[in-house]
Amino acid sequence: MANISVLLCVICDSQAGEDAAPHMKKDSSVVLISSISGYHQHDSLAMYGVSKTALFGLTKVLAAEMAPDTRVNCVAPGYVPTHFTGYITGNQTLRKAIEDKTLLNRLGTTDDMASAVAFLASDDASYITGETLVVAGGMPSRL
Ligand SMILES: *[C@@H]1O[C@H](CO)[C@@H](O)[C@H](O)[C@H]1NC(C)=O
Repeated sequence: MANISVLLCVICDSQAGEDAAPHMKKDSSVVLISSISGYHQHDSLAMYGVSKTALFGLTKVLAAEMAPDTRVNCVAPGYVPTHFTGYITGNQTLRKAIEDKTLLNRLGTTDDMASAVAFLASDDASYITGETLVVAGGMPSRL
């Protein structure tokens, strides 16, 4: 998984935003999906987390390259019980430890993440670009 994310970053080299920009419509929007693990890497997902940290920088670069017609933002989801995170969220000890790190005392849902992406893609976010929105129930999120 980490290899795929890093490869994506390599493909999105410094020309990517400039190359894509002419093909994007005015007032268009791109939303990258990073992860809370980009801020603090879980032991079992260390390199995955590093690749997600890289997406924070990629968001800034693409936002600058694709402005002014296209906004580029990023969502950093917290832990959501999915097939991908099942080996963590399916373990009651690990799940409880993660829930305890959130202020809202629960894992996220796919709807929580979809709402954030919908907001950033909408006109309600028309003056937001180059930002990462952390959707992690208050879990600490600083580098
Ligand atoms: C859950 O995770 C803990 C901590 O890593 C581990 O000690 C335990 O064996 C795991 N439990 C199961 C059922 O896998």
